[in-house]
Amino acid sequence: MIKAQITNLKNEAIGEILEINEEKTLEEIRAKFLGRSGKLNQLTKEIPKLAPEERKNIGNLISETKRTIEDALWQAKDKFRKEKNKEEWLDVTAPGIKPPEGHLHLVTEAIREISAIFEGLGFQRSRYPEVEWDWYAFEGLNMAENHPARDVWETFFIEDFENEKYGKGILTPHTSSGQLREMEKYRPPIRMLNIAKCYRRQSDMSHAPMFYQFEGLVIDKNINISHLKGTIDYFTKQYFGPDRKSRIRPYHFQFTEPSFEVDVTCLICQGKGCRTCKQGWMEIGGSGMVHPLVLKNGGIDPNLYSGFAFGWGVERVLMMKYGIEDIRLLFEGDLRFLKQF
Ligand code: DAH
Repeated sequence: MIKAQITNLKNEAIGEILEINEEKTLEEIRAKFLGRSGKLNQLTKEIPKLAPEERKNIGNLISETKRTIEDALWQAKDKFRKEKNKEEWLDVTAPGIKPPEGHLHLVTEAIREISAIFEGLGFQRSRYPEVEWDWYAFEGLNMAENHPARDVWETFFIEDFENEKYGKGILTPHTSSGQLREMEKYRPPIRMLNIAKCYRRQSDMSHAPMFYQFEGLVIDKNINISHLKGTIDYFTKQYFGPDRKSRIRPYHFQFTEPSFEVDVTCLICQGKGCRTCKQGWMEIGGSGMVHPLVLKNGGIDPNLYSGFAFGWGVERVLMMKYGIEDIRLLFEGDLRFLKQF
């Protein structure tokens, strides 16, 4: 009677194992037949009730059945494993999956590009303090205290931060503050490229309270306006492309004489005139021949040396190159914008 039960149970288990097509079901079958409260254990509990001479035989039969079921389970498991491996076949020569890759900040990229262009002309990168004294940013650049020209630079002054010799502490509003520092550090010939953060109290589509400028300063014997114009033209073609033209327009700055504003032909109409640029030109920044007084303040004899300088916005040239209309986009970190570059 019990023998038949054991045989039936074995057949039932094997039948179920052969029918399944999912590896995880194997554990359910194991629990059902071999588990602590599984069917085989239930039969084991019957052994003490049997006649003593039968007990050993039945015990052996149960152990054997257990082994047979375990074997079948193992074989099924092995079969599933092999099938799965076939699906996961790895072709080491197939091209890999590229993880998403970011890029440097647009402003960092522009700084590197601008540096490379001027380094090609022999300019050397400098960096001077962002927290600066009035002397370097204004007074030493021919803008005495209360001079109205200062109004252009909506400057942040630092409270209770003053130097007897150099005046008030400020956040530098332009990179021109690097000019005197460069002259104090090096003797001519000088070819400085000062790229740094500047701060002004303004914020709108084309102004941010923190932005970057790049400032060029060249001082040597016999430097004249044609050197300035040639440098501007070279930069324009290298940075914006060979079809773009530049021009200089008379202007006024306290620290240059004569002074100019520099324009580049508009990206959209290429100089013909459109709604964005109005007359075909877009302004990129100031420039001029270094004022003799500034040379003198830097300890350089204006009778022996002359120089030119320019100071332009990094974000500004970057926006003009790509046609970006709002400077704030550059600092917001919105991936929908950044991923276009
Ligand atoms: N510092 C000026 C500004 O922030 C730009 C400038 C004008 C720089 C003339 C120069 C220069 O070096 O020669 O608007």
